[in-house]
Formats: sequence, structure tokens, C-alpha cells
Amino acid sequence: MVHDLSGKVVLVTGASSGIGKELALVLTKHGCSVIATARRLPLLHALQHEANSFSWDESSKLPRPGKLSILRLDVSADDAAIDAAADEGWKMFGGIDVLVNNAGVRGPVKSPLDWDEKLWNGTMDTNLRGPWLLTKAVGRRMRAAKRKGSIITVTSTAGLERSLLPGALAYSVSKAGANHLTKVLALEMGKYNIRVNAIAAGMFKSEITNDLFDKPWLPAVAKKIVPVGRWGIINPDLTSLVLLLASDASSYVTGNVFVVDGGQSLASVPVWSSL
Ligand SMILES: NC(=O)c1ccc[n+]([C@@H]2O[C@H](COP(=O)([O-])OP(=O)(O)OC[C@H]3O[C@@H](n4cnc5c(N)ncnc54)[C@H](OP(=O)(O)O)[C@@H]3O)[C@@H](O)[C@H]2O)c1
Repeated sequence: MVHDLSGKVVLVTGASSGIGKELALVLTKHGCSVIATARRLPLLHALQHEANSFSWDESSKLPRPGKLSILRLDVSADDAAIDAAADEGWKMFGGIDVLVNNAGVRGPVKSPLDWDEKLWNGTMDTNLRGPWLLTKAVGRRMRAAKRKGSIITVTSTAGLERSLLPGALAYSVSKAGANHLTKVLALEMGKYNIRVNAIAAGMFKSEITNDLFDKPWLPAVAKKIVPVGRWGIINPDLTSLVLLLASDASSYVTGNVFVVDGGQSLASVPVWSSL
């Protein structure tokens, strides 16, 4: 194990599937006490069952696994509801050291001219307002308890200037906002010993991308357009960075948007060679 995370309390949003689920499991295996949150409680119960089946592995010398508790948390709810959920989460293990704002929605692929206001608001509430409100609720408690903290938000390369995504107006704008939110929060929260970073993820297999990953031609596309020649694998490609940002090994690291996409967003269309 590279980073000592034993005893850290981590709240993960969107832990019922995909990236959040994998993060919750890996953090638990690294000795954290994890509060796994989402809206679909049956999936969280299944996750809890899986997490609690870990055992100490003498041969690999992996740390004693932490515990995983579950909590229903809708990140698109209003300030008061999010604050109440944060309060419940805070009390579960007597505090929170790390918040992973992972919950997110992609929405349908549509022209900006066909996008409707309700969809726009729903995407913004989940991907942008939610991370702010939850960071506020958890950050206030960290500040009051004089407890240093790390906030990690999973954004997307779609929110980078160099990698705009057609058909995903609200998604791209919300993720760009979340990248900026990260930097402003880092600027303001450093004095409370709270670090704030974002991870702009490229493409990883999850519920959002399941259909795409079923296409037999997809690996060949990666060979053409991703510099490292493949799509991301949540564990370890994303989990490794979350472990670092959650640990004290990154205590001088704040205000960054880390791009984890195998270099995909660097490339332009290679018009003078063959696709
Ligand atoms: N997969 C990729 O290629 C990729 C690329 C870039 C960025 N990302 C980002 O990574 C994050 C995780 O996505 P994923 O790929 O793992 O997709 P996923 O498998 O669809 O997971 C999304 C998670 O977000 C939760 N969620 C959605 N709306 C919520 C709400 N209002 N309140 C609380 N939880 C909510 C869902 O749980 P419930 O439905 O149970 O609430 C689910 O656990 C997202 O922010 C996404 O934008 C993913």
C-alpha cells in the first residue's frame, strides 16, 4: 500500500454504481470508514454486503479493511435536505475527513436547440449545485471541528476547454462549472486546512457508458484516439488518484483539475493521416 488511509472517514456520493461503487469498495479495502451514499438503497445494501465480506489478507499485508455504512442522499435536493444528510453522515463515524463528490448524470444527447429547461435544471442541480451544497455542509462541520479535510469532485474532460462534447450542453457546462467551483473553493478553504481538487475523467465503463462499451469496435477506436491506446479502467486508473488525494501524502496539493483520460483530450483529429 502506498498511502496510509486507515482510520480516515470518507463520504462518497453516487456509490450505488459505476465509479462511486468501485471507489467505495477500494477505500474500504484501504482501511477507511466509508459512508456510501446515493438514492437507490437496494444497490447500496448490496454494496454494504460486498464491502463487509472483506477479510484481513496476511500474505498481501493489506491493511485491515474499514467499515462501510450507507446513507440515502439525493444531491439534487435543497440546501436544508443536503445539510440534514451531511449531519447524519457526520455522526455515523464521528466526523468526515474526505468528501468524494462523484454523483452525476449525463442526460440525453440533444441539440442545444432541443434541450428543455427541466433537463437543464436537473443536470445542473446534480452535477454542480449538489457538489457545492454538500461541500458547504461538510466543510462547515470540518471547520467547526478544526478537522483537516480533502474534497474530491469527479468532473469530466467534457468540462475542459480542450475537449467539448457535442450533444451534451448541460453536462459539459455543469462539469466546466464544477472544475471552476473546485478552484474557487480551494482558494477560500485552504485557511481551514481543507483541500479541494477535481478529477476530470475520460471514458470509463459504468452505467453511463455501458451501451457504448458493448460495441465490438470500441477498443479499435481507443487505439486510434487515446494516446495510451485503451479506455480507462476505474480501478486502478481512477482509484489510485483518489487514494492519493484522500491521503495526507497530498497535503500540499489543492486547487487542481487532474485529467485522467489516457491523454485522449489532448488529440485533435489527425486529418493528414488515416483514421
Ligand atoms: N463513466 C465515464 O466514462 C465518466 C466520464 C467522465 C465523468 N464521469 C463522471 O463520473 C461520475 C460517476 O459516473 P459513473 O460513470 O459511475 O455513472 P453511473 O454508473 O451512472 O453512476 C452515477 C451515480 O450517480 C448517482 N446519482 C445520480 N443522480 C443522483 C442524485 N440526484 N443524488 C445522488 N446520487 C445520484 C447514481 O446513484 P442513484 O441513481 O442510486 O442515486 C449513481 O450511483 C459522474 O459524475 C460522471 O459524470 C464518468
